[in-house]
Amino acid sequence: KIAARIDRPVVLVGLMGVGKSTVGRRLAAMLGTDFVDVDDEIERAADRTVSEIFEAHGEAYFRAGERRVIARLMEEAHGVIATGGGAFVDPETRALILDQAIAVWLDCDIDTLVERTSRRNDRPLLRNGNAREILTDLKDRRGAAYAEAQIHLVTDNGPHSETAQRILEAID
Ligand code: S3P
Repeated sequence: KIAARIDRPVVLVGLMGVGKSTVGRRLAAMLGTDFVDVDDEIERAADRTVSEIFEAHGEAYFRAGERRVIARLMEEAHGVIATGGGAFVDPETRALILDQAIAVWLDCDIDTLVERTSRRNDRPLLRNGNAREILTDLKDRRGAAYAEAQIHLVTDNGPHSETAQRILEAID
């Protein structure tokens, strides 16, 4: 059953590797709406990769740009939006999203996050240390912020198509 219609953007939040971009693309296709990936938008606007921005200017500069891009998307975009893992942790960005969109926290176990993030080497926060330790620490520190999302889904390493289907049911 694909009956869900959305009158606000659906914003996917959660840690690196949980599947926000893949699930978001599928969900948008199911809904027949647009999909926007915030990291891609930032890279396009800055004409640099996320790693290059972190390296050249640091995390605070990246967060400010991320906040601006999300503020613009909240005005312009009507479909599904995948955020970078830290976006919803920023209090101002979180308030914007909660005010204008439906936030969906995708959550899964650390093993799955470690496995998925190991496939690509483009996460500046995982570059200088042990990925499992860093992800475990981020999960602890960010849990309270993510928990403010209106919808919480534990994906249990299920297929992304199933996760997208579950979001559809949850927002219906
Ligand atoms: C970050 C997650 C990344 C990207 C940046 C910072 C984070 O996005 O925005 O590397 O703070 O968790 P993904 O969650 O899409 O990997």
